[in-house]
Amino acid sequence: MLHQVMKTLTGFQELDVEAKAGVFLADPEGKVLRLYTTYGEFTDEFLEKEREVPYGDCLCGRVAESGQLLMSDSCFSDTRHERRFQNMTPHGHYIIPLKSRDKLVGVLFLYTETHPTWYRFSQEVLLSIGRLIAGAIERNLNEEELMRYRQNLESIVAERTCELTGMREQLRKLNQRMEDVREEEKKRISREVHDQLGQSLTAINLDLSWLDKQDGAAEPVIHEKIQGMRDLVQDTIGLTQKIAAELRPPVLDLMGLPSALEWQARQFEQSTGVVCRVKVNRDLQLASGVSTGVFRIFQETLTNITRHAEAKNVVVTFSRNQEAWELIVKDDGRGMDPAKLSGASSLGLLGMRERALILNGSVEIESAPGCGTLVRVSFPVKSNES
Ligand SMILES: Nc1ncnc2c1ncn2[C@@H]1O[C@H](COP(=O)(O)OP(=O)(O)O)[C@@H](O)[C@H]1O
Ligand SMILES: [Mg+2]
Repeated sequence: MLHQVMKTLTGFQELDVEAKAGVFLADPEGKVLRLYTTYGEFTDEFLEKEREVPYGDCLCGRVAESGQLLMSDSCFSDTRHERRFQNMTPHGHYIIPLKSRDKLVGVLFLYTETHPTWYRFSQEVLLSIGRLIAGAIERNLNEEELMRYRQNLESIVAERTCELTGMREQLRKLNQRMEDVREEEKKRISREVHDQLGQSLTAINLDLSWLDKQDGAAEPVIHEKIQGMRDLVQDTIGLTQKIAAELRPPVLDLMGLPSALEWQARQFEQSTGVVCRVKVNRDLQLASGVSTGVFRIFQETLTNITRHAEAKNVVVTFSRNQEAWELIVKDDGRGMDPAKLSGASSLGLLGMRERALILNGSVEIESAPGCGTLVRVSFPVKSNES
C-alpha cells in the first residue's frame, strides 16, 4: 500500500518531485524514527545510516518532533539538513508528518528538485494524504497486534487443553485402578463370606443336628428350641450365600458374562416381579476385566429400572458384530427426557459412562416421557479381545 502511494505521489508532476521517497515509522517511547520502506534508488550507505533517526535530528527528526509539514529547498544550503552522504546529489524535500488524529504514526519524505516551485495546494493535499496513510498504518498495526494476541491466546488454550487431556487421562487411569482394586476386594470378601462363614454355619448346623438326637432333647421344649436354632442357621446360610453372590456372583467367574447376565436377570425378576427376557449368545466370551465392566453396567441399568422406570417388561440383548460388542437394555416404563441427564447429579449414569470409557466404548440413551428407555452400551471388539 505504501509503495503504491509513493509511486503515485512521485508521479505527480505539479509537485516537482523526483522518483525517490520513503516512510519512517515512529517509536514515540524511544523517541526515534525507524526506516520502514523506500521507493526509488538509494545507496546502501543511506539505507544503513537512515535506519534510525532520533526525534529532532535532521529534517525527518524535526518533523517527528514538531508534527508540522516541512519543505526544504536544497540539501546543501538548508542548515537543518545535518546528515551528509557520499555522492549526494542536490535535492529538495517535502517531509510530511503521518498523523492519525493527533498521534504521530510516522514520517513520509519525498525528494524534489532543488528550489522547486512549491505547489499552491501542496501543504493541504500532502497533509491530508499523510492523515490517510497514518490511519491505514495504524489500522494495520492494530490488526497485527490483534493477530499476535489471538495467536498467543490460541497457543495458551491449546496448552491448557493438552494439560487437561493429560489430567483427564490420569484420572481415568486412577479410576480404572480403583475399580480393579474394588473388584478384587469384593471377590475376596465374597469368597470369605461364602467359604469361612458358610463352613462355620454348616458346622453349627451339624452340631445342632447331633444335639437334637441326644437323650435330653426328647424334652419337647428343648427339641423345639433346637429346631428353631437350626431353621435360623439355615436361613443365615442362605443369607451369606446371597450376600456373597451379590458382592461378586460366582457365575461370572465360572461361566462367563452371558450366564451372569441371565443369572442377574433371574434375580431381578424374583425381587421386582418385572419380566426380564435375555437374548444372548452363550458362546460370546470376553476377557475377565471386560466382563466385569459390562456386568456392573448391566446391574446399574437394572437398579435404575427398579428405582425409576415402573416397567413391566425388560428385554436385554448382548451381541457382537465385526467391530463392536453391544449390550442393549430396553424397558417399557415411564421413560424420561434424556436432555436432563447431562447434569452432575446423574452419578449412576456417569459411572456407567466411565466404565464404558475404560473399554473405549460409550453409553447412549434413547428415551422419552411415557415411551420407555433404551440403554445401549457399545465398545470396540479390537481393544477388548478375550
Ligand atoms: N430406566 C429408566 N427409566 C426412567 N428414568 C430413568 C431410567 N434410568 C434413569 N432414569 C432417570 O435418570 C436419572 C439419572 O440416573 P442415575 O444417574 O442412575 O441417577 P440415580 O439413579 O442415582 O437417580 C434418574 O434419576 C432417573 O430420573
Ligand atoms: Mg442410578
